[in-house]
Amino acid sequence: MEGRIQLCVLVVVMLTAAGKVLGQSLDIKAWMGEEPMTPVRIVNDLVEYFSVRDPHGIPVLNVPEPIHIPGTVPTTQIMFYDPYISGHSKLRLEYVNVNLTTLSAEAKISLPWFNFQGDYEWPGYFSNSEGFANITIVGIEVSLDLFFGIDDVGLLSVNPKMTLEYGDMNLNFTGLNYGHGVVVGAAGTFFSSVIQPLIIGKVQTKVQSLVNQGLEKRLQNVSFPDSISPVDFAVAKLRMDFREQGMEPVKVDDQEINLTWGVTVQLQNIELSGITTLHRTHEISAQFIDSVVYVTIQLGTQAMKGGVDWSLSASLLPGVGGHLSLELESLAMTVELQQPADIRSPPTLRKIDVKLGNFAVRSNGDGTFDYLVEALVNILPNCFRNQIMDKVEPMIHQRVQKVFNRLDVYRMVMNRLAEKEQQQREQTEATA
Ligand SMILES: *[C@@H]1O[C@H](CO)[C@@H](O)[C@H](O)[C@H]1NC(C)=O
Ligand SMILES: *[C@@H]1O[C@H](CO)[C@@H](O)[C@H](O)[C@H]1NC(C)=O
Ligand SMILES: *[C@@H]1O[C@H](CO)[C@@H](O)[C@H](O)[C@H]1NC(C)=O
Ligand SMILES: *[C@@H]1O[C@H](CO)[C@@H](O)[C@H](O)[C@H]1NC(C)=O
Ligand SMILES: *[C@@H]1O[C@H](CO)[C@@H](O)[C@H](O)[C@H]1NC(C)=O
Repeated sequence: MEGRIQLCVLVVVMLTAAGKVLGQSLDIKAWMGEEPMTPVRIVNDLVEYFSVRDPHGIPVLNVPEPIHIPGTVPTTQIMFYDPYISGHSKLRLEYVNVNLTTLSAEAKISLPWFNFQGDYEWPGYFSNSEGFANITIVGIEVSLDLFFGIDDVGLLSVNPKMTLEYGDMNLNFTGLNYGHGVVVGAAGTFFSSVIQPLIIGKVQTKVQSLVNQGLEKRLQNVSFPDSISPVDFAVAKLRMDFREQGMEPVKVDDQEINLTWGVTVQLQNIELSGITTLHRTHEISAQFIDSVVYVTIQLGTQAMKGGVDWSLSASLLPGVGGHLSLELESLAMTVELQQPADIRSPPTLRKIDVKLGNFAVRSNGDGTFDYLVEALVNILPNCFRNQIMDKVEPMIHQRVQKVFNRLDVYRMVMNRLAEKEQQQREQTEATA
């Protein structure tokens, strides 16, 4: 969600930057409408935006097509007067990839065509050119790559790189002098010397300062060690939180399993430790394609230890029981989730894959039965570990999906925003 808000902020920044470049007379306030631009409104507008098939255009803002810019628009070389811009209503967010493993993100925005037309004046060495300019660019793709790194004072910071590509360009200028005619004749040169610097330079620096400010505010100058990646550092913090919250060992509710022939197994005092060895095994990434966020998380633990008191009762047999202690060499888990950008729909668990390492069971109960249990559990499951997990995984999958189906992500986001708003209000009241 946060990502989407940031994306929207990004679009607003790009437009504002464009607005700054294109002249002060652009009335961006009017595009924002009457309602104040609150996070709640942005989320609601984005949910609506992404709820239709093939969402396109500029989200949240109500941008007219064409945009008329009254006044002058200076560029590095050419001065434009009263230009019109059109084509932006076909703007489309192609994808966003966030890779926490490599701490990088990339986004691609496409625009089938873009038109800019208006009177112009272009000073030259011997004579000036002036007349009417009609610039059409077709098949535009804007990619933004963000690389996050730890700077020399240990803070997380971003280094953006923006590229602008196009399929074809049609430049129709009237009243060009010979020299300028040559520049315009070589459309590629015109693009790289006039259009590209106009858009890329400003937006790139704006994005950089905005994201860095956001990071600074959010992370409150937390400094990261440069020896480990910030993701692993974050997982390490999670481990510490587990420990502090007394989640080591994890206690599980007593279980009762009814087997066939009236045999019941009771498991009590179930304890599991080792959860605080949680770490990232491979990838943690998120992709946004076609209005859906796909998340991949791969986590694992080192050795886990568990203990359980068990008892077995059957109507015709005397009760038996004992204590089992279990040691699991390792646990690795891959989880794949998807969440529609229209957050009124719940998330879906696409895949869950659990890999168990070797495990050993020791029993200290009363009698021969223990040896049997020990032998059974030690030999069978270690051989059939993966087959057993294959059977268990669908069960976990179903349970998790059931929980997901009850999740109201939209409500959760709205409540969180309301909470934040309340906090801010209290803060401003306190300082006032
Ligand atoms: C993330 O980066 C890792 C390491 O380069 C790579 O193996 C993985 O495929 C990337 N994931 C995505 C979704 O791009
Ligand atoms: C500008 O060029 C486009 C395509 O090249 C054309 O469709 C449009 O009519 C032109 N506009 C003017 C005012 O000449
Ligand atoms: C350029 O525009 C003028 C009028 O605006 C038109 O007469 C001319 O045909 C256009 N040239 C091209 C190559 O599109
Ligand atoms: C972070 O540190 C810088 C420089 O030391 C300071 O100007 C800024 O206010 C700090 N930001 C926060 C959120 O503490
Ligand atoms: C197991 O069977 C007993 C007696 O028939 C019943 O009371 C109990 O609820 C059952 N437990 C489960 C988990 O099905």
